[in-house]
Amino acid sequence: MDEWIDYYDSTHTIYVSKLHRDRHFALIARDIAGYVSSPDAVVLDYACGEALSAGRVADACGLLYLAEPAPGVRGRLIARFAPNTKIRVRSLEDVRKMAENSVDLVVMNSVAQYMTPDELDAAFATVKRILKPSGRFVLGDILRPEVGMFRDVLALLQFAMKNGFLKDALVGLISTALSDYRELRTRVGLQRYSEDEIKAKFAKFGFSGSRALHNIGHNPWRMTFEARHAFTGT
Ligand SMILES: C[S@@+](CC[C@H](N)C(=O)[O-])C[C@H]1O[C@@H](n2cnc3c(N)ncnc32)[C@H](O)[C@@H]1O
Repeated sequence: MDEWIDYYDSTHTIYVSKLHRDRHFALIARDIAGYVSSPDAVVLDYACGEALSAGRVADACGLLYLAEPAPGVRGRLIARFAPNTKIRVRSLEDVRKMAENSVDLVVMNSVAQYMTPDELDAAFATVKRILKPSGRFVLGDILRPEVGMFRDVLALLQFAMKNGFLKDALVGLISTALSDYRELRTRVGLQRYSEDEIKAKFAKFGFSGSRALHNIGHNPWRMTFEARHAFTGT
């Protein structure tokens, strides 16, 4: 859904303050780094956003591809990480052209909800093709059909309380309620999947996947999954 890409390319207020944004990306980088299994691993962060702490992931792996569809965000990533020789910035079009069996870990966090089901299917097909036989695909921050916006608000407030930006979060929630985000979330919507639906999608694309114990990031009501190529030997 291009409208969500445009939204993320705009000067949005999804992060209520600089501290929120910094803590968010630090947490995401810590969680992604936790999935890196070897210091020479090739990692792809699929729709990485601003990825402010990607240097931390790069420190843990051999090569980090930061892929982002929003052109403005991508421009900032290129400028921010130009000095880091372990980081390459790519468009999603570039990702589709990556070599077969070339990536050890693909992380797609907090992205599936903004895609149409067809876009998510196409992304699964690409990941299946570029992932090495021993590779791992981590799909994070999946919204469940039965969990509403109230839990998102609660999760944000808990994260804010722990990190000292509660006042900004409360102000931010009011402005979000009046913002483009609210309007888009109501009009275009977010895609939601049950655990069984995600597992069925993995199976459809030749992965075997299971739910991880913890969700990536701050929201415990959302789900993360880990998948590998399904064993198809005889
Ligand atoms: C909430 S941000 C997540 C960024 C980062 N992965 C993280 O965990 O912080 C959503 C990301 O999805 C991207 N996005 C939005 N709509 C998309 C679509 N239809 N296809 C692919 N990516 C999309 C946005 O450009 C943005 O980078």
